[in-house]
Amino acid sequence: MAIIVCPKCAKKHKVNLDSVKQNTLLGKKIVARCKSCGHKFPVQLDRLMHPKIEASPSPEPVSAVRKICVTLSKGGVGKTTTSVNLSAGLALAGHKVLLVDTDTQGQSAYNLGKKPRAGLTELLTKELAPEECIIRARKNLWLLAGGKSLAGVKRIIDRKSFGAEWTLSEAMKGLDHRYDFIIIDTAPGWDQLIVNVLFYATEVLVPVALEVMPLQGLSEFMKSLGSIQKYRKEIVLKYIVPTFMDTRIKGPETIYSQLEKLYSEYMCDPIRYSESLSEAPSYGKSIFEFAPGCTAAADYKALVRKVTRDGSALL
Ligand SMILES: Nc1ncnc2c1ncn2[C@@H]1O[C@H](COP(=O)(O)OP(=O)(O)O)[C@@H](O)[C@H]1O
Ligand SMILES: [Mg+2]
Repeated sequence: MAIIVCPKCAKKHKVNLDSVKQNTLLGKKIVARCKSCGHKFPVQLDRLMHPKIEASPSPEPVSAVRKICVTLSKGGVGKTTTSVNLSAGLALAGHKVLLVDTDTQGQSAYNLGKKPRAGLTELLTKELAPEECIIRARKNLWLLAGGKSLAGVKRIIDRKSFGAEWTLSEAMKGLDHRYDFIIIDTAPGWDQLIVNVLFYATEVLVPVALEVMPLQGLSEFMKSLGSIQKYRKEIVLKYIVPTFMDTRIKGPETIYSQLEKLYSEYMCDPIRYSESLSEAPSYGKSIFEFAPGCTAAADYKALVRKVTRDGSALL
């Protein structure tokens, strides 16, 4: 016995399958006629015989996208370097990645050797369709570029009377599910755009330069993050990535062990100091393209493994 629902009047009818099976071949469509309204409609026999298939139409693919923002109020700590090379590494490991640059300096595009005509500004102002704002930078790697024009967008966001903090989330709606990772680079300082990023992302990665006094900057940032978390529980600190690790001098190691004591659960292996990291951007290359054998390439590969929780990625 099976139940057929008339698509016109929604009346349910019981059908004895045995009587139908004898006359009809499996896989063939038969035409049913509603006894109530007379409407004729096609019915697929094997769907009737396996009602579970009918009852659970394939669900919308559940978006498993991970939205990681790379942020710290201090400048020059390796935010852009980490955003670009983590994105490039994830893409090399086979993940679909969108790198979003929310900085007016627009450094991410430069680092990848791209000169996009549009980017995040046009997406936020809805001047252009998302397809026109996002460019393909490499295999598996797409870029939503930042740049000077974002300054004007910040003013627009500031003038909103309510819901200003959701501007980025609203603009990204419907785009997220196309990617496995969305990596968001942020500008130094603290402004409405960074608040927007923290209302959109779910994970925070903080690069900490193992130079002078990084702990103060980090604890100030933790306070600011805490004030956002009161309103948005989904955003959590996930990774602290020590950068500019120079083993030739004592200072960085001392700072590293202080960080370890305070924040051990978030700590990642450090990114060592490497000249190649500062040279690669002027060639428009990621570290994996510019100097694949250097220590920094190995360190960013290790970060890819940590973030993906895939111990064999990029080995
Ligand atoms: N581990 C490193 N070793 C050497 N130079 C680095 C390292 N990380 C970043 N740099 C360089 O330091 C400068 C600042 O880094 P950047 O990523 O632009 O910082 P932020 O985005 O936080 O301002 C850049 O010139 C970059 O190439
Ligand atoms: Mg930067």
